[in-house]
Amino acid sequence: MRDKISIVGAGFVGATAAHWCAVKELGDVVLMDVVDGMPQGKALDLLEAGPVEKYDLRIIGTNDYQDTANSDIVVVTAGLPRRPGMTREDLVSVNGKIIREVMENVVAHSPNTIVILVTNPLDTMVYLAKHVSGLPRERIIGQAGILDSARMSAFVAMELNVSVENVHSFVLGGHGDEMVPLPRYSTVAGIPITELLPPDRIEAIVQRTRKGGGEIVSLLKKGSAFFAPSAATMQMVEAILKDRKQILPCAVYLDGEYGLSDICFGVPVKLGAKGVEQIIEIQLTENERAAMEQSASLIRSSMSALEL
Ligand SMILES: NC(=O)c1ccc[n+]([C@@H]2O[C@H](COP(=O)([O-])OP(=O)(O)OC[C@H]3O[C@@H](n4cnc5c(N)ncnc54)[C@H](O)[C@@H]3O)[C@@H](O)[C@H]2O)c1
Repeated sequence: MRDKISIVGAGFVGATAAHWCAVKELGDVVLMDVVDGMPQGKALDLLEAGPVEKYDLRIIGTNDYQDTANSDIVVVTAGLPRRPGMTREDLVSVNGKIIREVMENVVAHSPNTIVILVTNPLDTMVYLAKHVSGLPRERIIGQAGILDSARMSAFVAMELNVSVENVHSFVLGGHGDEMVPLPRYSTVAGIPITELLPPDRIEAIVQRTRKGGGEIVSLLKKGSAFFAPSAATMQMVEAILKDRKQILPCAVYLDGEYGLSDICFGVPVKLGAKGVEQIIEIQLTENERAAMEQSASLIRSSMSALEL
């Protein structure tokens, strides 16, 4: 039997995620949205690309959660993206209501599923989704760190004029402008970038990474990034469905790890068939730890606006 992947929210990120899913033949896809006809239209269009692209999957669109029943994975992208000038935190109230409704329906139809959440403000929405759904922390995971690390890798590759395949970047913390890129752990062919670039160039890359989402929002003027966010989400889906035991930065509920409790936050985890199979704690310098705490305090102030 093929795996079943439901994607709730068939907008830019959701529909593009469905596209990656089909191209990589990860499993059957259910595209779900509240807008009548739109997920059905996008799903049919994607299905009709199968004969050209040679993927052979069941892809359907729906407005009914019944069609998502017994999903192996549910990706949640339902919610508003930010507009120029907005922070992700400005979305807490409106997206909080959406996430509450979505999660109640998701777990009612797929109690054993693993949920990957994408909706912003990411860390706060993962916390809310965990609270509403009652899912164990292994099965409710937020996507942010893979995207933020990918952005940093793209900037490092451009700066050094090397293949992106040689670059491995490490970004932890919350998915906001206070995220924590870690140059010491970011490498090119195994060499830390601190040995390859002067401090001012590293600082410029760190700042561009932190504001990477905002850079795209101001260029697009309407909507936010979707190609890289959906690709990052699909890396998590693939790691879980193929039980790859891949170590990736993801937003998970912390219970004392990194000195933080009762918060969802970006840290390296091992992703496999059970979802989060291990939380990996790395050594941090005093400055890095302070940056993590600063990032966590921003998430906590966003969480305080939640009505739990
Ligand atoms: N975590 C990340 O790295 C990351 C990256 C990019 C975008 N995002 C976030 O992802 C979300 C989606 O972004 P987008 O660009 O796809 O936006 P979009 O507006 O294109 O799509 C959102 C979709 O959600 C649907 N929706 C709204 N309420 C719903 C409900 N109750 N049930 C089901 N569907 C519902 C809308 O109809 C719409 O089609 C935003 O919150 C955005 O900020 C996160």
